[in-house]
Amino acid sequence: MDEFHKIRRLPPYVFEPVNRIKAKARAAGADIIDLAMGNPDLPTPKHIVDKLTETVLDPRTHRYSTSRGIPGLRKAQAAYYQRRFGVKLNPETEIVATLGSKEGFANMAQAITSPGDVVLVPNPTYPIHSFGFIMSGGVVRSMPAEPNEEFFRAIDRAVRHSIPKPIALIVNYPSNPTAYTVDLHFYKEVVRVAKQHNIMVLSDLAYAEIYFGTTPPPSILEVDGAKDIAVEFTSLSKTFSMPGWRMGFAVGNEHMIKALSRVKSYLDYGAFTPIQVAAAAALNGSDNCIQEACDIYKTRRDVMVESFGRAGWEIPSPEATMFAWVPIPEKFREAGSLEFATRLVEEAHVAVAPGIGFGEYGDDHVRLAFVENEQRIRQAARNIKRFLASAQ
Ligand SMILES: Cc1ncc(COP(=O)(O)O)c(C=O)c1O
Repeated sequence: MDEFHKIRRLPPYVFEPVNRIKAKARAAGADIIDLAMGNPDLPTPKHIVDKLTETVLDPRTHRYSTSRGIPGLRKAQAAYYQRRFGVKLNPETEIVATLGSKEGFANMAQAITSPGDVVLVPNPTYPIHSFGFIMSGGVVRSMPAEPNEEFFRAIDRAVRHSIPKPIALIVNYPSNPTAYTVDLHFYKEVVRVAKQHNIMVLSDLAYAEIYFGTTPPPSILEVDGAKDIAVEFTSLSKTFSMPGWRMGFAVGNEHMIKALSRVKSYLDYGAFTPIQVAAAAALNGSDNCIQEACDIYKTRRDVMVESFGRAGWEIPSPEATMFAWVPIPEKFREAGSLEFATRLVEEAHVAVAPGIGFGEYGDDHVRLAFVENEQRIRQAARNIKRFLASAQ
């Protein structure tokens, strides 16, 4: 049978090749230190788990739930946006709960894309930003991931030269995998330019709460009038260490939220009600657990920067996210990120994410996630030091 049209447009997921090599090395008895996937290893805070277990005992919660999210959950998300960003959202028309932000993003792409629509997507970036649109029949035009003058020049070129004209722009700050951050001034300019050219903006704010400085990352919706053209995706996966729970949100422009809700109403009946109740408890609860998680990631970041640096591999220190985006050492750069990541697993027993998995402009970097404890990070540095000293 010929390969299906859609599958021909979906290369194996970013982690698949490295996972295969990792599994093979583990089967041969190697202790692999896994910095590849951004899969938080911290436990979900106890008060959230307690709310889930308490709620699940009520059989009324076992029925189908609501696709848009139960009202209490949407209200909790509105309260979070008000408290954290000073942004007022109507829980009835401007918020939809999603089964993780990845599902929400992909189904938003499906909802708003006509065949052949051009979408401006950073490169390198988290894969769903491009493949959500590719799966929906759209055409992706690469944008620089770095938020500087060149970013706006690229929008200008895209508007002048893309046929048809772009319908949407994706922004993701703090960024995965690059860890770039922006201030509100940048978003003001994005909103101004997007409005000028009638472009929708999809902002992925999955790392809103994982930052190490004193200034919290802003929301694009803080910009006056942003709701006219923008939606934003947030996630409980990193904020509350709940990756397996699959809970996120899309908020903002009413017309786009309505379109997403319509698509989702055909696809799902919402997350399991106890998960939604526990997610509301997370959003309504104290911020202490968020701070504790940030402190742990920050310590790991510092340990990684220091120990890898001493091992002979300079790690740029990120200001946010749970990732370091690291140039491949000069002598391995030519061979590319997949080859380098493969050698690190096989010869240093350290797994990293190859930059090519995030787009062709990521091929001279690898991404290291802060998902192993300090002792294991130091062990990884020792392994890498040996590898760098002996590798040809
Ligand atoms: C930038 C970005 N967006 C979205 C997601 C997906 O998060 P969720 O678990 O909410 O689907 C991730 C997960 O790594 C991410 O890095």
